[in-house]
This record gives sequence, structure tokens and C-alpha cells, in this order.
Amino acid sequence: MGRSPSRIAAALAVLLLTPAVATAQSSPADKQVARGKYLVNLGGCNDCHTPGYFLGKPDQARYLGGSDVGFEMPGLGTFMPPNLTPDKDTGLGSWTEDMFVRAVRTGRHMGGNGRPILPPMPWPNVGQLSDGDIKAVFAFLQNIPAIRNDVPAPKVPDAVMDGIAASYDKMMKKMHAQAAAQAAQGANTAVAQR
Ligand code: HEC
Repeated sequence: MGRSPSRIAAALAVLLLTPAVATAQSSPADKQVARGKYLVNLGGCNDCHTPGYFLGKPDQARYLGGSDVGFEMPGLGTFMPPNLTPDKDTGLGSWTEDMFVRAVRTGRHMGGNGRPILPPMPWPNVGQLSDGDIKAVFAFLQNIPAIRNDVPAPKVPDAVMDGIAASYDKMMKKMHAQAAAQAAQGANTAVAQR
């Protein structure tokens, strides 16, 4: 029944190795990227932003590299889901985290003050994630292979753009009012429960 020295040595080696492996697997940056991957899967970004998806053959070698099929929105134009990979010229490689957070929170192209991000990009849904989750999505997107693929920019008459921007502003006002009302209701309930 005696423990052989080699067994003890093996057990010790496992004990010594385990913590090192555990830290390598769960650094905060890795955890953030893993969370981002989870959210990107849940958000169905792949459905619209990976080429071939709408033709029944998603090209996973060009994962999130930009669609080759556009959405025709009656009376508005045809909008193509762009390249979300970290390619500097044709993807999100030159975007900052801050630009990404602002883009999905405000629905403005590249998080700026210009044109609205066009439908059917579900930015109002993505924009309801917490700051931490939006940043995790961005961290994941910056960690996938960069694919060079320039998706054509939308061609939309100014008047149509203005109409979409106005409808977004209205929607945002409504969302903010609802959030404020809910917060007030929450406060009232808290008071009533005391
Ligand atoms: C239903 C289809 C659809 C889904 C699902 C979708 N997108 Fe998009 N996305 C689009 C389209 C279309 C555009 C182009 C809009 C434009 O040019 O204004 C776009 C644009 C974008 C842009 C560029 C915005 C800009 O400033 O120009 C980003 C970033 C983006 N999507 C991220 C995502 C992420 C992340 C997800 C998943 C959480 C996602 N999209 C899911 C259709 C989609």
C-alpha cells in the first residue's frame, strides 16, 4: 500500500501545474472575449453579417466578414450588413470601443453625429445591453480573424435618411420616457413597501 515516490511526484506536479493553467484560461481579457462570443451568438449577428447565410451556405471562413446580400426595405433602399471583422480598411479595425458603444446606443453610423444606422440592424436591442456587455461584444469582434471585404455603403436619398433619423429620435425619446417612468414606479413601489 506504500505510496511510490513517482506517484507523489506526479501528484505534486498536478498540484503545481493546475493553478498556472487555471489563470491562463480565465484572464479577465479572455473572459470578456468569451462573454462577447456568447452575446454575438445570441444576437444572431452571424445571420446577417456572414456572407452566404441568406443563400443557405454561411461561409464560416469569412465569419462576420460582411453580407453579399442586401435587405431591400420598400421605399427606402437596399442595405447591406457590413464587415464586422478587425480589418482596418474594410471592417471595424479602426473603430474604438467608445465608437462602438455610441453606435449601438444612439443608432448613428460609427457612433458619430451623422447618418442613422439603417434597418434592419437591431441596434435598439443591442443598445440595451449593459456597458460591460457591449464592450465584450466589441472585444470579441476585435479578436476574430480580419477579413478584407468592402461592403458597398447604402445609397439613400437625404430626405429618406432624415425621415429615418427623425423616427429614431422619436423612438429614443419614448424609450427614455418609459425608462424614467419605470424608474419612478420602482421608486414608488419601494416607498409603498416600506
Ligand atoms: C437582421 C439583420 C442584422 C442583424 C441580426 C445584425 N445586424 Fe448589424 N447591421 C445590419 C445592417 C443591414 C447594417 C447596415 C446598416 C447601415 O449601413 O446603416 C448593419 C450594421 C452594423 C454595424 C455598423 C454600424 C455603423 O455604424 O455603420 C455594426 C457595428 C453592426 N451592424 C453590429 C452588429 C452586431 C454586433 C450584431 C449582433 C449583436 C448585429 N449587427 C446584428 C443588419 C443586421
